[in-house]
Amino acid sequence: MPRKKHESQAGTNATLSKAWGGRFVEPTDPDVERFCHSFSFDRRLYPYDIQGSIAHVRAICQAGLLTAFERDQMIAGLKKVEAELSAASTCLTPLPSQEDVHMYIEHRLIERIGPVGGKLHAGRSRNDQVSLDLRLYLRDQTHTITKHIKSLQRACLDQAKKQMKVLLPGYTHLQRAQPVLLSHYFLAYYEMLKRDRSRFSDSLQRLNQMPLGAGALAGNGFGINRQAVAKLLGFPSVTANSLDTVSDRDFVVEFLSNAAMLMMHLSRWAEEWILWNTAEFRFIELPDRFCTGSSMMPQKKNPDVLELIRGKTGRVYGALTALLTIMKGLPLSYNRDMQEDKEPLFDTVDTLGSVLPLMTKLVIHTRFQDAHLKDALDEGFLLATEVADYLTRKGLPFREAHRVVGEIVLTGVRTKRPLTDFTLQELRGYSKHFDDDIFDCLTPTGAVERKQGMGGTSTASVQFALRKALAEIKQ
Ligand code: ARG
Repeated sequence: MPRKKHESQAGTNATLSKAWGGRFVEPTDPDVERFCHSFSFDRRLYPYDIQGSIAHVRAICQAGLLTAFERDQMIAGLKKVEAELSAASTCLTPLPSQEDVHMYIEHRLIERIGPVGGKLHAGRSRNDQVSLDLRLYLRDQTHTITKHIKSLQRACLDQAKKQMKVLLPGYTHLQRAQPVLLSHYFLAYYEMLKRDRSRFSDSLQRLNQMPLGAGALAGNGFGINRQAVAKLLGFPSVTANSLDTVSDRDFVVEFLSNAAMLMMHLSRWAEEWILWNTAEFRFIELPDRFCTGSSMMPQKKNPDVLELIRGKTGRVYGALTALLTIMKGLPLSYNRDMQEDKEPLFDTVDTLGSVLPLMTKLVIHTRFQDAHLKDALDEGFLLATEVADYLTRKGLPFREAHRVVGEIVLTGVRTKRPLTDFTLQELRGYSKHFDDDIFDCLTPTGAVERKQGMGGTSTASVQFALRKALAEIKQ
């Protein structure tokens, strides 16, 4: 026999006093309550939830659902709830009926201003509300993150300015390849970060659409002026389809994907500097204050910050994978699975918030070991391509030149002699195209300075790129 619900029951029972309690005849299992709750992590959205609620209050007042007095009462109440939340300790314990930040705020409003607070949710659902909160949150976070990226780019440009005279071996396959300017190296990271920054900025276009008014999935029947709400909240446009609006988390996936790509760049960089900081490379010396010691081995100075940057890339990839997986099986429109978007997202925001400033500090304070960089240029036949290019300029087909120089290098490897050791006579034994001027080619500086083309590593090209970058970063 179905249990009949009495008015008195609804007043005393936690489930039946929930916002959706009318439909229910038995209380929610406490384990279910704990399982479904999200307030402990989504409370971070409260300033956005309040901001959205205030705009919604204005909109429903305009639509004739509230008197001006009720509107002002509700706005004042919402501001008080906001103040209360910002002053509250992190261990607020919400009632079971306040399962998420939206319910919490609505309940507190009703507690503060009475039943009129119950008018807040007209024409609105948590489904469009949570989309709004996330969009407002991510709009702010995107600005913060792009600022952090810009600071890191600036640090790269400062290093590029300072290191214009320093050469280092450039690598392919982690084998010494050709010399490049250290400034050129820093400008490479500048470019990567430029793409990262523009990806975050581009995503704003799709993020910056106002979802309120979509209701639970079908829209609202109260004549809410969505454009006016958009204007109040600083959105240039409104979302086009209510079903799509409440089921869309593309903007979260996109943010996480941008974050994953950024972390991939930082992780590669971290890996490179971990290697460069080893006794095997000795290209850089990390400042003590960015390293940690070993609990057992007294000699150790470990590059933990860089290792953690590399490691945290895994958790950001994990967040992206989590969200793609959460979304992949969801039919239209809103499904509760989507509540699982928040923890990976917040974790990623926190990770970027700590990683980017630390990497910036590292770039500013890391010292380059010029003497070791110089030594590294002398070994490994970094100028072999210069010799092949020389022969090519003298008229030998490049493929032939490549073979000739390959043979010279082989002799060099076997006899442990660098290219600079070979006499003109010896070289002419490999090709008649060799002349006295070959020795001008055999310096790292010459190799660098010949790369005059746009985007190359000559001082002139790098200075040009640096000037362009300095002008860009000012914008
Ligand atoms: N806490 C929920 C979330 O994050 C809010 C939306 C809940 N909507 C619902 N119909 N249960 O997704």
